[in-house]
Amino acid sequence: MITSSAPGKIFLFGEHAVVYGKTAIACAIDLRAHVTVDEAPSIQMKGPGGSIDLNPRKHPYIYSVVEKFKGLTDVTGVSIDIHSDIPVGSGLGSSAAVTIATIKALDAYYETNLTLEDIAQMGHLVESEVQGRASPTDTFVSTFGGMVQIPDRKKLGFHDMLIVIGNTGKFSSTRKIVSNVAALRERHPIVIGQIMDTISAISETGVDFIQEGDFHTVGELMNINQGLLDSIGVGSKELSELVYASRKAGALGSKITGAGGGGCMIALCEHKNLSRVAHAVKRAGGDSFICRTSNTGVRIE
Ligand code: MEV
Repeated sequence: MITSSAPGKIFLFGEHAVVYGKTAIACAIDLRAHVTVDEAPSIQMKGPGGSIDLNPRKHPYIYSVVEKFKGLTDVTGVSIDIHSDIPVGSGLGSSAAVTIATIKALDAYYETNLTLEDIAQMGHLVESEVQGRASPTDTFVSTFGGMVQIPDRKKLGFHDMLIVIGNTGKFSSTRKIVSNVAALRERHPIVIGQIMDTISAISETGVDFIQEGDFHTVGELMNINQGLLDSIGVGSKELSELVYASRKAGALGSKITGAGGGGCMIALCEHKNLSRVAHAVKRAGGDSFICRTSNTGVRIE
């Protein structure tokens, strides 16, 4: 029996723009998905109600991972058991964390000797197949951990950051929102193109301030990024309420993380304001919790 785990992530800057090859900065967080694989009579998913055979419609990410392993080794009987701290469909990279942890667990179980690069690449292929258009951000961050610049796939110096996450509780489909943005970009190529360029410039400007630990300026840039995310139609009333409540309570900056439309927002905080911001987000209707950035990528437990 082998258990592995991989982290979820937040976008400090650059979601959506990264889909068009622009720069984004994302960071792993200390919420993780755990995957245990074990011997079984067929390829099965374990759940609270018992085991069921792997099903491409119910378990698209795991199914796609298993299909890839069938190209590497003889996969006939294995059970896969998932336990995740990361809310699903919320912009925190839960599907990538489950995908990457499953690849690592199967790699160890079948001794296929994949490198971290191989794992990140396979994960990105899986996400692209299941989601349509997908940037390598979630799978890369979940594999390597820490703070990462995409598309350069460059690991930045790690900083411990305190984040309040506010979950609207509204499921959002990344696939649908990414395709809405693509349609808007087709209707207004120059306007949306320039917004994507500006988001990219925010990410590039943000790198130096992150490295210097100037979180006041990082927060200010997050707020500008949020305005631009609203402008491309990925905000919502619920997300805005949490964003403004967090700023009023003293967050250094706050924005949507991930695709938007629902899901989560993040607020960068100083220690002294952390619980005030978390309470304000809760009062504004969000399920709020505190997390930290994490430098730990996928690993065997
Ligand atoms: C979704 O978490 C982030 C997007 O930029 C899509 C992607 O990067 O694949 C909207």
